[in-house]
Amino acid sequence: MHEIFEAIKRGAKRVHEAINFEELGYCEGENCSGEKQLKLDVKSDEVIEEELSKINSVKILASEEKTEPLLINENGKYLIGYDPLDGSSLIDVNLSVGSIFGIYENGFNGKDLVASAYIVYGPRVELVIATVKVERFILRDGEFHFMEEIRLANKGKINAPGGTQKEWYDYHKSMIDSLFKEGYRLRYSGGMVPDLHQVLVKGGGLFSYPGTKDKPNGKLRKVFEVLPFANIFEKAGGFAINEKGERLLNLKIDNVHDTTPCFFGSKYEIDRVKEYYDIKG
Ligand code: AHG
Ligand code: MN
Ligand code: MN
Repeated sequence: MHEIFEAIKRGAKRVHEAINFEELGYCEGENCSGEKQLKLDVKSDEVIEEELSKINSVKILASEEKTEPLLINENGKYLIGYDPLDGSSLIDVNLSVGSIFGIYENGFNGKDLVASAYIVYGPRVELVIATVKVERFILRDGEFHFMEEIRLANKGKINAPGGTQKEWYDYHKSMIDSLFKEGYRLRYSGGMVPDLHQVLVKGGGLFSYPGTKDKPNGKLRKVFEVLPFANIFEKAGGFAINEKGERLLNLKIDNVHDTTPCFFGSKYEIDRVKEYYDIKG
């Protein structure tokens, strides 16, 4: 596993270089989720594939930017699902973006996830790794240095509500409003990596990306985005559930590009989601 994290670090430094120095602009095609691809999405995918393919223990790579999973080593132990550049539509306005990695064994279901990591490319570059605990590192002088362990409190002050409000269900809007009425502050950039990083680093709060009238399964992808963060939230002492109150880490997948409604937070806010979504227990 150590060598996978080292490859992720090398990939992160190269993606950071690409963000800083390579041209912006779109490719001709779309990815299989029907989204326009930036040249930087494709470049980041290539860089990460190149670094992870060097590792013997990697069996399969599945990327948000690749239609099908890619076999690397038949005898490898790990399957890696990754989003090479999350929030890439924010690059032109110079907001923070990220890369997300889920490390799986046997398959790409929630129960198969054994570790996860993400990188935030912001004013500073940070790496967060979840194995048995959640650790935060900062990039300085070409190396990632340990900063702190991340632990969530029981309650936070931040509300990060995703999805198109016009399409929200009434009970979802009531839940979001109830937190604002209690004094929660809106923090939503539109990049799940910095938005979730903020909840984690500030010690709690809620990030939600619900099922909506137009997109009942939400937007965020299980294998590349949701499951890696579900593991990070649980290991930090928080909670990560779907609209039925099921642990996201219990979800199965039919296709690596499947999406799911998702709620990440500390205990207090997740209890609020359950109350408004009428989830018992
Ligand atoms: P990506 O850039 O990899 O396609 O993902 C963007 C995601 C995620 O970062 C963010 O939380 C969400 O899209 C924002 O969606 P909305 O614009 O619908 O809020
Ligand atoms: Mn993404
Ligand atoms: Mn992406």
